[in-house]
Amino acid sequence: MENIRPDNTPAVLYAGGENTIGERPTKESVPDDPDRPIHRPFKEERLMSDKTVSPGKADERALYEAVGKVIEKYRDKPGSLIMVLHEAQEIYGYLPMELQRFIADGMGLPVSEVSGVVSFYSYFTTQRQGRHTIRMCQGTACYVRGGKKVVEAIKKELNVDVGGTTEDGLFTFQIVRCIGSCGLAPAMMVDDDVYKQVNPTKLRGILAHYAEMDEGGADA
Ligand code: FES
Repeated sequence: MENIRPDNTPAVLYAGGENTIGERPTKESVPDDPDRPIHRPFKEERLMSDKTVSPGKADERALYEAVGKVIEKYRDKPGSLIMVLHEAQEIYGYLPMELQRFIADGMGLPVSEVSGVVSFYSYFTTQRQGRHTIRMCQGTACYVRGGKKVVEAIKKELNVDVGGTTEDGLFTFQIVRCIGSCGLAPAMMVDDDVYKQVNPTKLRGILAHYAEMDEGGADA
């Protein structure tokens, strides 16, 4: 399937392949403090990351009702499935199969069509997402400068595999191929922040920072 953007499709869906994660940081954006994250003005990812907390059972019904309203809004508009999925993921946080069936029913489409679109675009996720997303780079520069050790350390520290979410729902762990910060290898992102020259020791501090931030109720 060719990656051609149809009309009215959110640009975020066409930001690139699975491992494309937006604008490269500029030299000016690199702070003097080596331990400070480099903030990335990454609007598209933010769209997703702010809303990727899994719903609890109590409000699940309300979320389905909200998705139902989205379906009503778009049902009679041809070619609107991607918009529905986009908004559904914004509301629910991810697109489990049950929700895909609900959308397919509501839109009068085969489930296979809905699933096909969901699986084609890396923007869509069928897995519950943590409140923070770790993206560890395993591109060549990061890999040869110790990235693999950091990956192992993340797995051990968080007891999570690649693509998984920690039991407490705090972190989702992903591998990416290059985040455009090769000179800072090995590089890692947490949400919109880039961390450079990460090693297992530095990693523990970074993880603790996000855990403390959440305990304190502060916003990432
Ligand atoms: S290879 Fe890791 S940032 Fe480019």
